[in-house]
Amino acid sequence: MSEHNLGPADQLDEGDHLIVELKGREVAVYNIGDDYVAYPNWCPHQGGPLCEGSASGTVDRCFDRETLETETMWVKEGEVVVCPWHGWEFDLRENGFLHDTDSTLPSYPVRVEDGNLVVSL
Ligand code: FES
Repeated sequence: MSEHNLGPADQLDEGDHLIVELKGREVAVYNIGDDYVAYPNWCPHQGGPLCEGSASGTVDRCFDRETLETETMWVKEGEVVVCPWHGWEFDLRENGFLHDTDSTLPSYPVRVEDGNLVVSL
């Protein structure tokens, strides 16, 4: 495993991300508010450039069997990335496909050390 210093952590505002090439792989690092996460820029569906889009949220629905009403809510703002090829959504905090809990993204450890982002892979 090797460590890579990507420079100052404050280059990423909350909700921003950057894509760098490390050891021949494109790696995306996201600032999701109270944490940083890193993933390959690769979608497990068909290999699309998953991290080209910005982090956003997703729609969740709740159906009430008593009233037969459906409530639609915007949730997980800044914690969901949508693959630009076919629209699969991944939860950046849980590193998983939102609609299939068995599909996960490989992730890389990332930390802030002396104010710099350090990714291990
Ligand atoms: S390649 Fe990402 S959703 Fe299909």
